[in-house]
This record gives sequence, C-alpha cells and structure tokens, in this order.
Amino acid sequence: MGKKIAMLGSGFIGRFYADSLHGQRSQDQIVSIYSRKKESAQKFAGDYGVSHWTCSMEEAIQNKQADVVVVSLPNNLHEAAVLECCRAGKAVLCTKPLGRNGAEAKRMLEAVEKAGIFHGYLEDLCYTPKFLKAIRSVRGGSLGKILWAKSRETHPGPHSNWFWDKEQAGGGAILDLGCHCIELARNFIGKDIRPKEVMCWAATQVKPIEAEDHAIGLVQYESGAIGQFEVSWTFRGGMDLRDEVMGSEGTIWINNFLRTGFEMFTTGKGAEYVSEKTESNTGWLFPVGDEINDLGYNHMFTDMFRSMEQNKEPAETFYDGYVVNSIMDSAYRSAQSRKWEPVNLEDWRGKTGVSPEMKLPDYDDQFYLIKEETTHDLRHKVILKDKKTGKIVERDL
Ligand SMILES: NC(=O)c1ccc[n+]([C@@H]2O[C@H](COP(=O)([O-])OP(=O)(O)OC[C@H]3O[C@@H](n4cnc5c(N)ncnc54)[C@H](O)[C@@H]3O)[C@@H](O)[C@H]2O)c1
Repeated sequence: MGKKIAMLGSGFIGRFYADSLHGQRSQDQIVSIYSRKKESAQKFAGDYGVSHWTCSMEEAIQNKQADVVVVSLPNNLHEAAVLECCRAGKAVLCTKPLGRNGAEAKRMLEAVEKAGIFHGYLEDLCYTPKFLKAIRSVRGGSLGKILWAKSRETHPGPHSNWFWDKEQAGGGAILDLGCHCIELARNFIGKDIRPKEVMCWAATQVKPIEAEDHAIGLVQYESGAIGQFEVSWTFRGGMDLRDEVMGSEGTIWINNFLRTGFEMFTTGKGAEYVSEKTESNTGWLFPVGDEINDLGYNHMFTDMFRSMEQNKEPAETFYDGYVVNSIMDSAYRSAQSRKWEPVNLEDWRGKTGVSPEMKLPDYDDQFYLIKEETTHDLRHKVILKDKKTGKIVERDL
C-alpha cells in the first residue's frame, strides 16, 4: 500500500521531494500541502495533483488521510513542525540539517522517541546510487581499515533569502552543506565509531553576510580515522559534489555531479534547465542524467517507507541528525577558538574504547613489511623494519 503524505513547504526541496514521490509509477501520494503563501500552496497543489492545500501547518499535519509528514521548511521551523507531529502522533521525515544546533536536534530526537513515532532523517546524499554501491564495498572490507573520508559540497550559494540570515538558518555553509559531508564520512568511517574532536577553519570571504560562506574541517574519530569536509557558498561553476575514501586496502573516488560522463556543448539556442545550481546554459555543460535518482531521493523515500512498513529504523534517523548537529557545533566552536574542540555527545549509542592502533604487517619472524615494489629497472624489492632494532632495510627478491 502506498503512503499518504502531508508535505510541509512547497519550495525548492518540497518540489524535489514531490518529483521523487510522484515520479515514475509511484503509489505514494501527497494528500496535503502546507505553504506560508496561499498562491504557492495552490500552485504546488495544481502542479502535483494534491487534493488539499492549506496555509496552516497544524491543519496539514492533522489531515486524516495523511500517515506521514515530510518537513521541507526553513531550518528554524523544523523543531516546531516535529513537535506538532509528536502531538498528532504522526510519523515524521525531516530534511537536513535536523536542527540549527545540537540542543535543538536533541530536543527533537527526545520528542519523537517519547511520542513513539517513526522518524527519518532525509539525508539524500547517503542514498545516491554511487554512495550505496560504495558503502557496500566499504562494509564488505574492500578498502580495509578506513583511514580518511573526505567529502566536498561547494556551489554558488542557496536560492532563498532565509538561508542567508544566520538567525533563521542557524549558520552558513557549514550548517547547510557540512551536514551532508559529515554524515557521508560518518557512514564510511562507521556510524558506531565515536567522533572525538573537530578542527575547523571558516571565513566569510565574499558574501555580505554574518555567517561563513566557506569552511574546511577535520573530524577526528576514535578509530583514528579522519573525516574531512569542504564546503562553500562562493564556488563558481555549478555544484561540486565529490567524495574520497581511503582505506588500508583501497580507495574510492566519487564524482556525483560535475563531469559524470555526460558532457554537452550548446551555443545557448533553446537554452533550458541543465541541473541544480548550474551557472550557465551555454558552452560546454555537464548535465545530470536523472537528477532525482542521482541525488538519492528515490532510494531515500523507498528506505523510509519500507522501514515504516517493516517496523524498523531507516538507515538515517533523527539520532544521526543529532550526531551531525553536535559535530557542527564543535566545528563552529573550533572556527572561533582556532583549536581542536571536543564533540559533546551526551547521548552516545555507538561503541566505546575503540583503539586507533593497527596490527603491524608481519613479513617474517624478524621483520615487519613496510613496502613491496617493482621498480622501473625491474628490481623486485621489499623494504623491511627489524622488529628488535627498529632498523629499516631493503632486500631484492
Ligand atoms: N539536498 C537536500 O536535502 C536539501 C536541499 C535543499 C534544501 N534542503 C532543506 O530543506 C529546507 C527548506 O529549504 P528550501 O530550499 O526548500 O527552502 P525554500 O525557501 O525554497 O522553501 C521554504 C518553504 O517553507 C515555507 N515557509 C513557511 N514558513 C516560512 C517562513 N517563515 N519563511 C520562509 N519560508 C517559509 C515556504 O512557503 C516554502 O514553501 C531547509 O531545511 C533546507 O536545508 C535540503
């Protein structure tokens, strides 16, 4: 049986979600749309064949037909929407970031758990086809021990006024984009591995705003792995979404958006929409074949609704949203203090006491193996370390 959805917000992400929910031959249906402005609610209802529209959030949440609420509202309204879902006893799926900070996210987590309602964190980039394949390889051990997971999301900045207002958005590029990058790295490193501390540089380089428009951060995990995020609202040339994972046995590079193997040249005649945040529609372009699917929305809703039906947690929950918000709080503190800042997680549900040490690779009883190599003069050699003396030697094989 398909799901009946009350959609809160008819803006940018509300429409992407609707394209996914009503795309292909989906049985899932939006039955109520809430928007602040009557014209936007009506337009959305007309575009997506939604029978009920309203300018009252409570009315949409309490719609009798709806069995799940999707929160696609500005960041400062997530908490009120989620609390209303708790009062109504309705399942709730909330877009990213969960809260504007860890305290807000924690209140939301506690509220849904107390109300006993199904909750999902709509982190679409953890559902892209490339990510799903990559995470299977990582969890299957193809990359060995994960040492470094880097994720980058940079683009020329968001499209609505509220994003640029620190009070409503809760922050700048870190909160808006870093949440994706941090959760991607957490998945690769292991969500049960505790994030310990964060070092972050952030600056307002270009835009006339209070929040940061550019930042780079490092998240140190208890296993010794490093998560790295690179975010910007000042990047020119479209939306750059790339991940790199490095392990003791292998490497993964993922390019999600620019230069994905689809390149097109046009003089601009018949210029049309190319893909999200593309800055030009002439010259050489990098369209995306199936944007809705390639950004993870289809797989994300499938996991959410299947999990609801099977009475289990989806891959991304409010708890994940809370951990991500807490890491970002530390990033903001570090950008101020210019020091490593601890991640304060009052509610930690993963492993504790994970050792960062690796088992040293044995060569034989006397030596550890540092490296084995064939050089351009066709020497096959090993570089070894004596276990007792610590001396490093080379041997031809
Ligand atoms: N990839 C993603 O997962 C992704 C992408 C973009 C945005 N988002 C998230 O979705 C949420 C909404 O972002 P968006 O880009 O759709 O925003 P938007 O400005 O395009 O749409 C916001 C919607 O909220 C409604 N609204 C209600 N009260 C409002 C108020 N006081 N001020 C402004 N709008 C109000 C508006 O009517 C509108 O329908 C944000 O939390 C954002 O971080 C997620």
